[in-house]
Amino acid sequence: MTVLETERLILRRWKESDRGPFARMNADPRVMEHFPALLTAEESDRAIDRIEEHFRRHGFGLCAAELREDGSFIGYIGLFVPSFEAHFTPCVEIGWRLAAEYWGGGLATEGAQAVVRHAFGSPGLDRLVSFTTPANLRSRRVMEKLGMTRDPADDFDHPRMPEGHPLRRHVLYRLERPPR
Ligand SMILES: CC(C)(COP(=O)(O)OP(=O)(O)OC[C@H]1O[C@@H](n2cnc3c(N)ncnc32)[C@H](O)[C@@H]1OP(=O)(O)O)[C@@H](O)C(=O)NCCC(=O)NCCS
Repeated sequence: MTVLETERLILRRWKESDRGPFARMNADPRVMEHFPALLTAEESDRAIDRIEEHFRRHGFGLCAAELREDGSFIGYIGLFVPSFEAHFTPCVEIGWRLAAEYWGGGLATEGAQAVVRHAFGSPGLDRLVSFTTPANLRSRRVMEKLGMTRDPADDFDHPRMPEGHPLRRHVLYRLERPPR
């Protein structure tokens, strides 16, 4: 089921055929550089199950991203309600993860811009957040290109990371819905 279309992308609900390519990207150290561990195929499958469960519960979620030109599955772009507690929760997060061979062509930004427009459309959300480790400059750049801004006072320790873990510190970016 298609959720959104852009010039180059279809953002849609997940299909069984996404499981193989999603597991391959979750086992790629380049893709998982800013996450605590690579995922096994079982963990990757469970992640898809959780994403689809989130769609059923909230009516929105992290969409599977497919190239319009040849139907290739390239990763996800979409929305997620984090289940941990922090000073900015409850909130809706915008997030993305693409297979490395598709990086650098503006695809994450193109898909995320469509997700932002959709999220702020009627009836719509009032604000979005996104967060990552300080070193994830690619992802931070996507946040900036969406017009998101970071206040260093919002930086936080991710509650799912153990104390002392090098990936515990996170930067938070925010985006308010423009006035109608
Ligand atoms: C983050 C990610 C989705 C970006 O995908 P993408 O399609 O390459 O993104 P875009 O091309 O739209 O934009 C990337 C921007 O980062 C910039 N960039 C790339 N490498 C960079 C680096 N090492 N340092 C700083 N900026 C960098 C690019 O130049 C581009 O900005 P520009 O358009 O101003 O030139 C992709 O790298 C990814 O899946 N990473 C692994 C998963 C991940 O970390 N997800 C986010 C978790 S919060």
